[in-house]
Amino acid sequence: MFSCVHWLQSFLALLSSTFFALGQTCPSICLCPDHHTVNCTGQGLTRLPDSIPLDVRRLLLSNNWIAFIPSDFLVLHSDLVYLDLRNNSLTRLEPGTFLGTSSRLVYLDLGGNNLTEISSGTFGESRSLIKLRLGNNPYLSMVGEDAFSGLTSLRELELERSNLSKLDVKVLSQLPSLRVIRLEGNPWLCDCHFAKLFLWLMENRHKLKNELDGMECIVKNEVDPVPLSWLSEDSFRECRGMLTLKDYLIVIFSGICISVAAIIASFFLASTIHCFQRLKSKRTDEEEGED
Ligand SMILES: *[C@@H]1O[C@H](CO)[C@@H](O)[C@H](O)[C@H]1NC(C)=O
Ligand SMILES: *[C@@H]1O[C@H](CO)[C@@H](O)[C@H](O)[C@H]1NC(C)=O
Ligand SMILES: *[C@@H]1O[C@H](CO)[C@@H](O)[C@H](O)[C@H]1NC(C)=O
Ligand SMILES: *[C@@H]1O[C@H](CO)[C@@H](O)[C@H](O)[C@H]1NC(C)=O
Repeated sequence: MFSCVHWLQSFLALLSSTFFALGQTCPSICLCPDHHTVNCTGQGLTRLPDSIPLDVRRLLLSNNWIAFIPSDFLVLHSDLVYLDLRNNSLTRLEPGTFLGTSSRLVYLDLGGNNLTEISSGTFGESRSLIKLRLGNNPYLSMVGEDAFSGLTSLRELELERSNLSKLDVKVLSQLPSLRVIRLEGNPWLCDCHFAKLFLWLMENRHKLKNELDGMECIVKNEVDPVPLSWLSEDSFRECRGMLTLKDYLIVIFSGICISVAAIIASFFLASTIHCFQRLKSKRTDEEEGED
């Protein structure tokens, strides 16, 4: 009897604490239209609200003044799939914030902030991430060459209207699932460093959301930026002399490969012909024998 009462007591305690927790799930300043969504859009927040439920999946925080995301935020809110931080006051991302290998994040919007740099490894191995928006960051001038290297599912990347004058082509060529990219409205500098990116863009122009429209670059000693659509591979002619040793080795090596392939092919052809000729002469011998 006693144990039954005891059990009932614990059960009630558990039940009330669950209800208490449920009652706490929506931060007072936000809206929670369903159990998985917390909407704090445009509430004048200067920091993340307290008591965001740990099991939140959609978190809408755009149009606030949030300047800081603690680096353990995604570890604590590991069910988060959709995170909108558009139009806030972020100036930097704490190392490790988006590193989570177990992260379920699919959509991340950091556009319209004050970010200055996306360093290599910022997004680690966030393999779920499909859409990443980083545009309209007017101070963003540096993207590390391995900034997105672990994002194997990333389909859409936005880097438009920022302060990028250069971008290592590896940043883009490393993304196996990339379908849509935005790069327009940046002060690109048309030097030999840009030549490789330009060649990549020519080959992948179907991935550019607005084709080459709005993409301009600044040519040394020229005042007005030049639309990229006016340029061709030939415009970077003088960069050919600036190929690195590695580029030369690739050219030489591919030359050797082609020669070897040609030798093998002609050997194969020659032996095939030889074989046919022998077959033919054998047949004629046989026919002559029958006569
Ligand atoms: C979030 O709330 C804002 C108003 O605060 C509203 O305009 C917006 O539609 C809401 N978004 C969603 C997805 O519920
Ligand atoms: C950004 O957020 C501020 C504060 O809520 C708002 O006044 C402004 O209109 C927003 N800007 C954009 C482009 O949405
Ligand atoms: C970005 O930084 C500039 C200059 O520091 C500041 O004037 C501006 O208000 C900041 N923008 C946001 C959205 O915090
Ligand atoms: C943009 O980047 C350049 C260097 O590439 C820097 O001189 C300039 O101040 C930056 N502009 C802004 C608005 O941060």
